[in-house]
Amino acid sequence: MDLIRELESLAPELEKGLAQASSLESLEELRIAWLGRKGRIAAIMSGLPKLDPAERPKVGQAANRVKEECSRLLEEARKRIAGSQEKKRLERFDPSLPGRPVWQGSLHPVTLVTEEICDVFNTLGFDIVQGPEVETDYYNFEALNIPRDHPARDMQDTLYITENIVLRTHTSPVQARTMLSRKPPLAVVAPGKVYRRDSDLTHTPMFHQIEGLMVGQDITMANLRGILTAFIQAIFGKHTKARFRPSFFPFTEPSAEVDISCVICGGAGHIGNEPCRVCKTTGWVEILGSGMVDPAVFKAVGYPEDISGFAFGLGVERVAMLKYGIDDLRLFFENDARFLSQFGQYA
Ligand code: DAH
Repeated sequence: MDLIRELESLAPELEKGLAQASSLESLEELRIAWLGRKGRIAAIMSGLPKLDPAERPKVGQAANRVKEECSRLLEEARKRIAGSQEKKRLERFDPSLPGRPVWQGSLHPVTLVTEEICDVFNTLGFDIVQGPEVETDYYNFEALNIPRDHPARDMQDTLYITENIVLRTHTSPVQARTMLSRKPPLAVVAPGKVYRRDSDLTHTPMFHQIEGLMVGQDITMANLRGILTAFIQAIFGKHTKARFRPSFFPFTEPSAEVDISCVICGGAGHIGNEPCRVCKTTGWVEILGSGMVDPAVFKAVGYPEDISGFAFGLGVERVAMLKYGIDDLRLFFENDARFLSQFGQYA
């Protein structure tokens, strides 16, 4: 019965080994060494076939007892080690440490400025409307009195999808769409993305515009001036001056480009002795195009002849650059969190 004695010595020996073990890894090594397929119990049992068949059952039973005992010892040791590891972890845990701050996103400056501008016009009685970015040639050009041979139609500027479908080059097509779906009087602003085949330091193939349109019975240039001046002072401050300069757009007549007194140098043209780079010493910066809606546009949408109105269009990135003193257009598109996080948190 040597085998049985040998088997029975295994559990006490394992117990000694376990008393030394302090990690779950060393426990696993012991388990493999005792209970594994090439472990000590298996090694002893490999002598079984040599025994007298009458003795084999007793040895088998002893082996099972020893296996059970070893498993129990291993489980006890596992609980002990896991418990002390947990205790150590809790001792290291310092509840007085300040928590890690949760990363909070912020709204993109283009979104912020768009919302701010729309809020201003909303307060002045304008609705916010939207139109498609993929537009027909008709709404983008034809209905806006931009004839076939106008330079704005040049392949240089317009991104064509098919001969008659374009990525809108401005938000002005929303003017025509709005007039086709609403009766005058009306006042709307239409923010959105526009696309041009243009890419350099000061141009990106996609940028944002806001279109404005007010149509009614007796809308005049005075209304245009009053509304746009109120808008400019709401966005850039009460002391900002507006200057209306004659210009040309196919869809307005007369047309005016609007300049504001330079927000960087305060209209002086210089900062100390340095020439102002933003207004190039003129004291003025252009911020939008505008004018009285051309009768040809009213005709295209089937409005009556006695109607009048004004329209305007502005670049959102440009307003944001002036408002926040940003001098590089690319910052808007690089999505650098260090830049973006400076523009206020979510409300
Ligand atoms: N659509 C013009 C552009 O993208 C801007 C513009 C000028 C819009 C005059 C208007 C306007 O509504 O009256 O350059």
